[in-house]
Amino acid sequence: MFEMLLNADMQAAALNVLIWTTAALCAGRWPVERSRRRGRARAVTLLALVGIGMLVVLMRITTVTLMGRESWLFAVDRVAVALPALAVPAAAALVGTLPRLVAWVRRPSLETRIAAFAPTAVVPLQTAALGALVGLWTALFTVLAPPLLGPALLIHSAVVLFAALAWFCQTRRWLAARSRPRRRASRPVRALRAVAAVTAVAVAGTATVNLAAASSKLPDSMSMAPADGAAGGHHGGGESAAAGGTTSVTALTGPRDERPDRRFTLVAAEKTVRLASGRTVRAWAFDGQLPGPTLRVRQGELVEVTVRNELPRANVAVHWHGVDVPNAEDGVPGVTQNAIRPGGTHVYRFRPDESGTHWYHSHQQTSVQQMKGLFGALIIDPPKPAPVDHDWYLAMHSWKTEDGATVPALGLADRLERRRAAPGERVRLRLLNSDRLTHEFSLTGTSFRVTALDGNAVRGPTPVSDRKLAIGAGGRYDVEFVMPDRPVRLTEIQDFVGARDRGLLISADGRGEVTPDLPSREFDPTTYGTPAPTPFGPGSRFTRTKTMVFDNEIGFYDGRFRVTWTVNGMAFPDAPNLTVREGDLVRLRFANRSHFDHPMHLHGHHVLVLSRNGRPVTGSPVWLDTVNVRVGEVWEVAFRADNPGIWMDHCHIGDHAVLGMMMHLSYENVTSPYRVGRATGNRVE
Ligand code: C2O
Ligand code: CU
Repeated sequence: MFEMLLNADMQAAALNVLIWTTAALCAGRWPVERSRRRGRARAVTLLALVGIGMLVVLMRITTVTLMGRESWLFAVDRVAVALPALAVPAAAALVGTLPRLVAWVRRPSLETRIAAFAPTAVVPLQTAALGALVGLWTALFTVLAPPLLGPALLIHSAVVLFAALAWFCQTRRWLAARSRPRRRASRPVRALRAVAAVTAVAVAGTATVNLAAASSKLPDSMSMAPADGAAGGHHGGGESAAAGGTTSVTALTGPRDERPDRRFTLVAAEKTVRLASGRTVRAWAFDGQLPGPTLRVRQGELVEVTVRNELPRANVAVHWHGVDVPNAEDGVPGVTQNAIRPGGTHVYRFRPDESGTHWYHSHQQTSVQQMKGLFGALIIDPPKPAPVDHDWYLAMHSWKTEDGATVPALGLADRLERRRAAPGERVRLRLLNSDRLTHEFSLTGTSFRVTALDGNAVRGPTPVSDRKLAIGAGGRYDVEFVMPDRPVRLTEIQDFVGARDRGLLISADGRGEVTPDLPSREFDPTTYGTPAPTPFGPGSRFTRTKTMVFDNEIGFYDGRFRVTWTVNGMAFPDAPNLTVREGDLVRLRFANRSHFDHPMHLHGHHVLVLSRNGRPVTGSPVWLDTVNVRVGEVWEVAFRADNPGIWMDHCHIGDHAVLGMMMHLSYENVTSPYRVGRATGNRVE
């Protein structure tokens, strides 16, 4: 729904440019007509253009109003900038242009023609054309987001200045036309002028484009620590570090001297792996497995993981997604460590004081390495785990096969997989979306309970049926059911179309058939389960609040022209980073008016959902590490700043992070000796 609105708004913006520019060009022509008939035709055309122009202005006002009804955040920039820049000159045209055009159409004569050439008639159209251009530009190329006062003042002053200049020029032309009608510059002079104008525009355009391309280049090496004037100098509203001591991330390690309870080694290397269908993937894998080995530990144990990099050329670093480890163990190259070079090793140590379904993945060039297979499950059992008979972990992933296809699969199962469970047995499915899209699942043949979200237990989960589960990239859902005496089938819904043989079929003997349900309604975690007390909530006093509006934009990024993903109109490294002080209670508001879902992942913290689309959470408290903000949605979440360090905060769709949607959260006074960028070998994205 919202996406349709967004498209309609874009179309309205484009139509306004088309109509008003044509009208302005038409009205600005010297008032000499070859014949009476031609003169009249021009008058009628112009009148029609202005009439249609009024309609398309109304159209844009309507689309913006409807967007604003979804959330004022979706419309506020348009209300502050695009609409006034368009509607004010359009209103002036209503008063200044329209009556003169009507008079000219009614009584075509030199007199009425010249009256329609008056600045009062022409300048509104020229200004409306500029306003329409501003409206399209700010929807496509330079998206605006609050705070809007600065940009609004700047743009409106520019429009007013333009109108004044146009008034001056048009007055001179009009006076000339009045005193010496039928005379205008000779053909060669006009041609020369036209050539000069086109050349000037071309030269200025090329220069601007080259400058934009060059200035969009990401620095070869930069620090992400706030104390070092982080990331292009934009602190996103944070305050500068207070005077006093600083802590380096290198000091924020897990227990270094104690004896670990669990030891693992993960070796990253190239490996060709066969999918269930026989297709092969030239993967990058941990221990030769896709997904990597499942690390299973108990809450409170000291875990030690040694990562060895045997990839021939690429560096790696491993992030423990969903586990609030100490900062130095977070595995972010260029922020918490230097990436592990080929042949190198790195030892991670942490003691999770939480449980649930989590995972690990490479955070070096995440968009590439994770998709190639450098990930696996990290399952932390609580002290007293709820007993189940089958505990299955399933990663939804898209593999790039050697034959060039992109094949969606549950683990390596790119076709229907069959497993056995006897009637009455308890089954737990741990669903992980390690892919780059939101995936929607249906479970057919049984009702089920959603027992955990991102590894966090749901309070009082009740049986669900006829709902699809939408899991954003990076997210996890634990689902449990008691095996009925008929088969049960798990299906990924989008890929079901044209791929009926995918998914997981569970039955007593591994045989049987089930036609998958395709529920249209989505399971809503914010209205599910039983409420319970939380350490803070919507009524708490927040020490910091940050609104983040997600857009996409067309423009130069890192030297290339492309679609970028922005937060408050800015892409990494200018996207709004957040600086906090330990103990802060921080509220984040996400509003997604782009064309894609954005699963926002904050490292090192769990966030509590306060509201979704303006409605507060009515069920179990929802704690997440990855908040999948779908198109047209607004979420409010909060967290306590209780884990000092420098933490990534990004969209978990690698392609979006690479193209701008990447920020970080820094604690005051925390510094990092590491640097990111091409020249450093640390590629955080
Ligand atoms: Cu799972 Cu920063 O990522
Ligand atoms: Cu995204």
